[in-house]
Amino acid sequence: MKPQKVTKAVFPVAGLGTRFLPATKSVPKEIMTLVDRPLIQYAIDEARAAGITEFIFVTSRGKSALEDYFDRAPELESELNRKGKTELLKVLEDTNMDSGAIAYVRQNRPLGLGHAVWCARRLIGDEPFAVLLPDDVIAAEQSCLAQMVEAYQETGGNMVAAMEVPPEKASSYGMLDIAEDRGSIVRAKGMVEKPKAEDAPSNLAVIGRYILDPKVLHNLHETKLGTGGEIQLTDAIAEEAGWGGTGVYGYRFRGMRYDCGSKAGFLQATVAFGMSRPDLRDEFTAYLNDMMAQLKAAE
Ligand code: G1P
Repeated sequence: MKPQKVTKAVFPVAGLGTRFLPATKSVPKEIMTLVDRPLIQYAIDEARAAGITEFIFVTSRGKSALEDYFDRAPELESELNRKGKTELLKVLEDTNMDSGAIAYVRQNRPLGLGHAVWCARRLIGDEPFAVLLPDDVIAAEQSCLAQMVEAYQETGGNMVAAMEVPPEKASSYGMLDIAEDRGSIVRAKGMVEKPKAEDAPSNLAVIGRYILDPKVLHNLHETKLGTGGEIQLTDAIAEEAGWGGTGVYGYRFRGMRYDCGSKAGFLQATVAFGMSRPDLRDEFTAYLNDMMAQLKAAE
């Protein structure tokens, strides 16, 4: 039997973004811009390309700029219309969500990623759903989530995006315990959240894209506080990897992932996306080459 279609996605965006202070004192981290689009727009575009039609945001206090971003801006639109700026009006179209396509639920206590997803349980109901962490920006020809939705047709169960990392990085990720490696898809027999290098069951890390069975919501309800005193999504998914569970699969996606939760990652993404934009490529690349030449000369 083919798995049910995935049409709902959860975007956990309640974090304080302290790593980007002072910017995040008044601007939600997800609104920070990569070239000229907020981080969250990249995740939304990726989800849309994968067939997602219902978008659930788990927010917190101080995130109202996010809600405004996805709302219509009548004054701005009529001004652009009046000036005949059709190109810009088209750019704005991607930011508009149909009424009812987007929902917000608040996480009123910072109890971790697992708790954030659990907060959306009533909106998800009893069907498979996706989770996208907007900090992980993935540049790919076919959207990473779309690749996963295709692979999920084969596996069903639960699927997480996966990527090899060096051992010393294991403590920053959920790490997969591999039962069977089939190439792009691996079947996992467990998952550990942020283990020490010596305790990591493999070097395959979980990246912030998930397709989950609703049983994970049930597990979250019972999940105890885990690593860092938080309710870990990893723990609730790991329960499905064991005997009698719905199954857990890692998917080695094709694409380049940027960790925009860190300053270095954000800067790398800015350079990569700047260089891949047709309207900026030439000028920006010439500048970077120039800068590298100057650095070399100064050595
Ligand atoms: C979260 C998850 C972790 C995953 C990571 C991917 O951690 O808890 O399992 O590997 O995202 O980016 P965070 O980076 O939010 O601490």
